[in-house]
Amino acid sequence: PSLMADQLLSTATHHRTLPENYVRPESQRPRLTQVITDASIPIIDLGSPDKAQIISQIGQACQSYGFFQVVNHGIDTELMVKMMTTGLEFFRLPPEEKAKLYSDDPSKKIRLSTSFNVKKELVHNWRDYLRLHCYPLEEYVPGWPSNPSSFKEVVSTYCQQVRGLGFRLLGAISLSLGLEEDFIERALGEQEQHMAINYYPKCPEPELTYGLPAHTDPNALTVLLQDSDVAGLQVLRDGKWMAVDPKPSALVINIGDQLQALSNGRYNSVWHRAVVNSNKERMSVASFLCPCNNVIISPPEKLVSEGSPATYRRYTYDEYYKKFWSRNLDDEHCLELFK
Ligand code: SIN
Ligand code: FE2
Repeated sequence: PSLMADQLLSTATHHRTLPENYVRPESQRPRLTQVITDASIPIIDLGSPDKAQIISQIGQACQSYGFFQVVNHGIDTELMVKMMTTGLEFFRLPPEEKAKLYSDDPSKKIRLSTSFNVKKELVHNWRDYLRLHCYPLEEYVPGWPSNPSSFKEVVSTYCQQVRGLGFRLLGAISLSLGLEEDFIERALGEQEQHMAINYYPKCPEPELTYGLPAHTDPNALTVLLQDSDVAGLQVLRDGKWMAVDPKPSALVINIGDQLQALSNGRYNSVWHRAVVNSNKERMSVASFLCPCNNVIISPPEKLVSEGSPATYRRYTYDEYYKKFWSRNLDDEHCLELFK
């Protein structure tokens, strides 16, 4: 049976043990003691005057980790803090206020839900989330929550700034592939922008479940804002899970499936997951840049040669996205289905 509005974790009463429908079978558990905690994904200073070095650092990070953190990225720390507090205030609203926004239909352009895809999945995840479409803002902001009262202003300002940063990064990523700076931006068409505000409450038995199980992101590029004092994001590196140590005022960037396809596999959309803990609630805000639905994803000629023929077939983003949501989050890499 799927979950309902009154089973939002941010609403439910305190649990002493993990409810059975959240317990992963033995072989799928996170094995938290085996996670690497003394390594770090690259940290890239976007404020550095050496632009060539920034581009080469980004290129290297995209090839190896598929993840990096950016500092001096131009988004005000104060705005980042406001975004986090506004999100938390939203999850603290009374249950009847939140129930109005509850939906488990992934095609909705604004919805509050829990776990990941409650109608499809067999085991649930220890997460609530508010998912919003954010571009063009004029179209969507009127339908956003007016409680907390700062929500529309704070979230829309944050979305605008993230979009600017995202495009700057896509420019650097294009250059790092030897393409023109605006290549990726043009190839992806008029990009949609989505946001997931994630809330992970304290969990009584964090070693038995996930906030989000291992997945790759289906979109092009993800910008993640996360709590600066609670870790939870983990990235797969050489077959081992590596914890990302949150760095205050940094943002985490990762390559999604569409940039892996567009780069003809040079850059990697890497497996990652969110784990939970029993001490502290955690929040993260993921912003997704997504290709225009009808755009055909196919690498530029420059990245296809006899030695490296096209790895994936041509497809539209619409086709990809539907496939992604029809599966379980931790199935095989979705791009494997587009070979
Ligand atoms: C995500 O992968 O979308 C979110 C991970 C996190 O909460 O850190
Ligand atoms: Fe993700």
